[in-house]
Amino acid sequence: MTQKITIIKGDGIGPEIMDATIRVLEHLKLDFDYEFKAAGLAALDATGELLPADTLDAIAANKICLKGPLTTPVGKGFSSINVAMRRHFDLYANVRPVVTFEGTKARYHDIDIMTIRENTEGAYLSDGQTINEDHTVAESKIVVTREASLNIVRYAFEIAKRAGRKKITAVHKANIMKTTSGLFLEVAEEVAKDYPEIEFNTLIVDNTCMQLVMNPSQFDVIVTTNLFGDIISDLCAGLVGGLGMAPGANIGKEVAMFEAVHGSAPDIAGKKIANPTALMLAAAMMLEHLGHVQQANDIRMAIRTTLLAKDRLTGDLGGSAKTAEFTDAVISRLA
Ligand SMILES: NC(=O)c1ccc[n+]([C@@H]2O[C@H](COP(=O)([O-])OP(=O)(O)OC[C@H]3O[C@@H](n4cnc5c(N)ncnc54)[C@H](O)[C@@H]3O)[C@@H](O)[C@H]2O)c1
Repeated sequence: MTQKITIIKGDGIGPEIMDATIRVLEHLKLDFDYEFKAAGLAALDATGELLPADTLDAIAANKICLKGPLTTPVGKGFSSINVAMRRHFDLYANVRPVVTFEGTKARYHDIDIMTIRENTEGAYLSDGQTINEDHTVAESKIVVTREASLNIVRYAFEIAKRAGRKKITAVHKANIMKTTSGLFLEVAEEVAKDYPEIEFNTLIVDNTCMQLVMNPSQFDVIVTTNLFGDIISDLCAGLVGGLGMAPGANIGKEVAMFEAVHGSAPDIAGKKIANPTALMLAAAMMLEHLGHVQQANDIRMAIRTTLLAKDRLTGDLGGSAKTAEFTDAVISRLA
């Protein structure tokens, strides 16, 4: 049966890396039908809205979305279009795996860490933000619920079980944030008891950052709250050569949305030099989600071989190739 996929090309380098990624997907000759919809600045220009209802309807109908990075204009509408989409579809799990690719400027050569971040609540949302008139006091509210904590921790254990992962680390700051982070930790410890086959430990977030830099091989799966996950997953991207290598998935009970972790890179937009690897890896996560495991691994292997050959790397990877040349190299190595 034809799988319909909503494609949002996005802003800045979004259209360049999305075109590259679709070329790779089309080479696999899967029965996909791409429905192109707009969000972000592109949608604002075309429709006067940052997140048109028509785009949300298409995602709801197709249930799968591959999305380029979006620029949220400062001072207009949503505080973040991405946050609005995650909330609208209750995309409660943000999955951000990082794996070492030989041939990149990575500090380590044996990284395979998956950060699973709660995506719907907590300090990151900055709900109820206020600032007083003379800008001396600012406030926002942190809400953590048992339900969302249960959802994310169970999701992490189930993913770990399915993927044959050995260990889960729950990252928190419950020593100081005794109620909000404390509730998340309490739930994580409860859920862990149901999975005795998976090693479980807990770590305070500041120590986690230090441990990730000093001895990252001790980590396998990290599960954490929204803001800590946002920061830790970028730290992890740095361990494998930067944001250009880091894909992400936003998973809900109905809808799943796949994207690169990086933003719209306005400084290089239009120059056709962006590295499309992160979005291609996000497309591989999408294929896996849809059951096309072999094709997902084929994309990863073609990227791995291209990075190792170093013949057509983009500027951020130390080469001088254009996005299209890097994409040609990946396609030429697809099984
Ligand atoms: N998921 C998303 O849609 C998302 C995520 C983060 C930021 N943003 C938005 O993106 C815009 C720019 O944000 P920013 O500049 O802080 O972060 P950014 O990730 O866009 O760029 C940071 C740096 O990394 C480089 N870079 C990023 N992706 C690259 C790639 N694929 N190839 C080569 N170099 C790459 C950029 O050139 C820049 O120097 C902002 O409007 C922000 O809100 C969107």
